[in-house]
Amino acid sequence: MTSKKIAVLASGRGSNLQALLEAFPVHHTLAEIVLVISNKPGAYALERAKNVGVEAVYIPWKKGGQLEFETEAQRLFENSPIDLICLAGFMRLLSSEFTERWTGKMLNIHPSLLPKFKGLKAQKQALESGERYTGATVHFVDSGLDSGEIVLQDQLEILPEDTVESLSERLLLLEHALYPDAVRRVLERD
Ligand code: GAR
Repeated sequence: MTSKKIAVLASGRGSNLQALLEAFPVHHTLAEIVLVISNKPGAYALERAKNVGVEAVYIPWKKGGQLEFETEAQRLFENSPIDLICLAGFMRLLSSEFTERWTGKMLNIHPSLLPKFKGLKAQKQALESGERYTGATVHFVDSGLDSGEIVLQDQLEILPEDTVESLSERLLLLEHALYPDAVRRVLERD
């Protein structure tokens, strides 16, 4: 079996990207991260990719510039070519044309037990809900908001003393194990 090529889209610090880079380094037999794209020029995610010699590309997402972003990203995906896209803290909504083109080949990680707490500030939503548990979900991306088929979830207990910061921090640790596991599961069933 040839190693699958993965591209990661990230908007920020990229700690989930880091977990993926460590799980699927260059020349890994199952899969390797070969391309990282960010819509933010200063995203630390780009540095993380460069640090391990992975191609890191900034593509601007100007106001109303979704099509331009997607066209350029698609061109890079076809160049490689890419087998799987992982969204890792990518804070933009992709068009349905784009998500449909990548049906079954694009994953996202979200910091809640979907279908609960979709969208922004999922950790704050969980904290304010009074629920005892929350977690993280890796799911396929479809044209809806955080609505595609769930691949894997993991949960943790919300503690009485939790703040958005402490909860987000514990969730991140869980995410860093969950995302590589989910990617493995998807690739091994291909
Ligand atoms: C993570 O908690 C990820 O689940 C979340 O953003 C954070 C990115 O952190 N994603 C979403 O909320 C997407 N709706 P990272 O840049 O350190 O990976």
